[in-house]
Amino acid sequence: KARSMPREKGLEKGPSVLREGYLYILNRRKSFQSDVFETRLLGQKAICMGGEEATKLFYDPEKFIREGAMPKRVQKTLTGEKGVQSLDGDKHANRKAMFMSLMSSEELDRLSAILEKKWENALDKWGNSKEIVLYEEVQNILSRTACEWAGVPLPENQVKKRTNQLVKLFETPATIGPAHWQGRHARNEADEWVEELIEKVRNGELEPPENTALFAFSWHKDLNGELLPFETAAVDVLNILRPITAISIYCCFTGLAVHQYPEEAEKLRSGDKNKLQQFVQEVRRFYPFFPFQAAKVKEDFIWNGYEFKKGTLTLLDIYGSCHDPKVWDNPELFHPERFSDWRESPFSFIPQGGGTYMGGHRCAGEYITLRVMHTCLDYLVNKMIYEVPEQDFSYSVVNMPSIPKSKMILTNVKRK
Ligand code: HEM
Repeated sequence: KARSMPREKGLEKGPSVLREGYLYILNRRKSFQSDVFETRLLGQKAICMGGEEATKLFYDPEKFIREGAMPKRVQKTLTGEKGVQSLDGDKHANRKAMFMSLMSSEELDRLSAILEKKWENALDKWGNSKEIVLYEEVQNILSRTACEWAGVPLPENQVKKRTNQLVKLFETPATIGPAHWQGRHARNEADEWVEELIEKVRNGELEPPENTALFAFSWHKDLNGELLPFETAAVDVLNILRPITAISIYCCFTGLAVHQYPEEAEKLRSGDKNKLQQFVQEVRRFYPFFPFQAAKVKEDFIWNGYEFKKGTLTLLDIYGSCHDPKVWDNPELFHPERFSDWRESPFSFIPQGGGTYMGGHRCAGEYITLRVMHTCLDYLVNKMIYEVPEQDFSYSVVNMPSIPKSKMILTNVKRK
C-alpha cells in the first residue's frame, strides 16, 4: 500500500518557487528530509524530486513523458513549440538522432576552430577599447560562431539584431511583464527568420554545406519519411543557435570564478587539459543555470512506497542535484579538484540533464558546452591579460537565469 508523500502546506500564499528560485526544491528536500515531496505549481498538484535515485527514475521513459509538461511561457520564449524537447518515444529518438548526428569529434573540432577565430577577432577589437563587458562580448562571439557552424548566413549588419533576439529567448522565460513580452516577440521574429532560411534551402536558393544543422534539419525526414514542417525545423535550428549563445552565461561565470578563486586559476597556467576540464566542470556544478526540468507521469506507479499518478507534473531538481550535500563534500566550496577522482554516473552530475543522449533527453549540446567553456577559460587565464575593476559581482539564486550583476567588466584587455 502506498504511503503519502511529504506535502508542502500554506500554498495559499502563492508558490514559493517564485520567491526561492533555484533553491526551492533543495530547501524542501532538506527540511522534509526526503528526496521527493508534493506541492502545487501552476494551479495543479505537482511532485518535486532530486538526488541520484530520483534522477534515474525521472529519466526512465517508461515512467515519465514530456508531452504537455513544459509551461506555455517557456515554450513561447525559450524552447519554441514542437521541438525535440517536447517529444517522446520513437518520435523523440528520430529527432534526437538528427541532433546527435552533428556532434562528431570532427564537427566539434570545426566548431572550436570557428570559435577561436572569432575570439581572436574580438581580442583585436578589445585592444582598442578601455573596457569591455565580458557577457555581452561573448554573446556576440558565440552567436557568430553558432551561425557559421550551423550554416546560417549572418551578414555583419544583422549580428547585433540576431544576437539580441537569441539572448532574449533564454533571458526572458521566467520574467514577467514587458520583459517577458519582449521575449515572446523575439521568439516570433527568430522563428520567422529561420523558417525563411529553411524555405530557401528547400527551393535551392540557399545551399549550406551538407554537414551543417541548417542543411541537415531542412532535409531531415520524420518516421513517415516526410520533411519536418517549416516551423518545426526552424524551432530545432534555433535549438542549436540559442543554446550555443547561452553558453555566454557560463563564460561569464567562468570569468567570475577566475577572478574570485585566483589560487585555483593559477593552477591552470601550465595549460594542463585535465585541470582546465576540472575547473570547467566545477563552474557547471557550482553556479546556478538551469533550475529544474519538467515531465509528466506516464502511467500510475509506486516508487519507494510513494504513489505517482498518471499525468502529474513532476520537477527534477537540476540545481539542487549539483549542491546536494549527500553527493558533494562541502558543496558550497569552489573546488575543481573534486572532479579529479570523480566516478561519474549518468545520474550523478546533471547540470545539463541526466541519462543518455540518444535514448533520453540529456542535453544534446553538452560536449559543445564543454568545448566552448574550455576555450573561454584558456583565453581568460593563458592568452589574455586584463584588469578587473571594482563592480557588483553578486548574482541571484532567485531570478532565472542568474547572471552576475555587472556582467563581468574587464579593462585594458590585451593579447598575452
Ligand atoms: C536539453 C542545459 C547548452 C541543445 C537540455 C536540458 C538541460 C540543458 C537542463 C534538458 C534535459 C532534459 O530535458 O532532461 C543546457 C545548459 C547549457 C546547454 C545549461 C549551457 C549553455 C546546449 C547547447 C546545445 C543544446 C550548446 C546545442 C548546440 C539542447 C537540446 C536539448 C537540450 C537540443 C533537448 C534534448 C532532448 O530533449 O532530447 N539542455 N544546455 N544545449 N539541450 Fe542543452
